[in-house]
Amino acid sequence: MMKLISTSTKQTRDIGAKLAKLLKPGDVLALAGNLGSGKTVFVKGLARGMGCKEREVLSPTFVLLRQYTGKLTINHFDLYRLKDICQLERIGYEEYFYGAGVTVVEWADRVKEAMPQENLRVEFKILGEEKRLIQFIPKGRRYADYLRRF
Ligand SMILES: Nc1ncnc2c1ncn2[C@@H]1O[C@H](COP(=O)(O)OP(=O)(O)O)[C@@H](O)[C@H]1O
Ligand SMILES: [Mg+2]
Repeated sequence: MMKLISTSTKQTRDIGAKLAKLLKPGDVLALAGNLGSGKTVFVKGLARGMGCKEREVLSPTFVLLRQYTGKLTINHFDLYRLKDICQLERIGYEEYFYGAGVTVVEWADRVKEAMPQENLRVEFKILGEEKRLIQFIPKGRRYADYLRRF
C-alpha cells in the first residue's frame, strides 16, 4: 500500500503522469472515491504520461467508455451512471479489460464482480478544498512492483 497527499490539481495530475511511465499492456486501474475527489484529474495525468492528448480526457458524462491513443491505448471507463452490468456487457468490456491497452475504471466498485482479480486499486478521499488522500492498493505482484518503483 502507498499513501500520498496531493495539495493541488497539478500534483494529482503529476502523480498520474508518473504512474503512467510504469504501466504495461493489459494493466487495470480500479478507481474509487466520491464525486469531485480527483479521479478524472488523475486520468488526465495518466493520459499525459502515456503521450495521449490530455485535453481529450473528459468525465464521459453519457458515455461509459472513452479511448485515448498514445504509447499505449487508454480505455477510460466512467461508471457513475451505470444502470446495470448488462450495459457493460453490451460494450464487450472484457475485450478492454483483458486487451493490450491500459484500462482505468472510475467507480470501479460498481462492478466489483467484473473487475479482473489483479488490479491496482486507487482510492481518493477529499481532505480539504484542495487536499486529497490518494491510496494505492496493489492486487497482485505486478502492481506491488510498480509501487516499489514509483
Ligand atoms: N488536489 C487535488 N487533486 C485533484 N483535484 C482537485 C484537487 N484540489 C482540487 N481539486 C478539484 O476537485 C475536482 C476533482 O474533479 P474530478 O477529477 O472530476 O473528480 P471525480 O472524477 O473524482 O469526480 C476538480 O474540480 C479539481 O479542480
Ligand atoms: Mg470523474
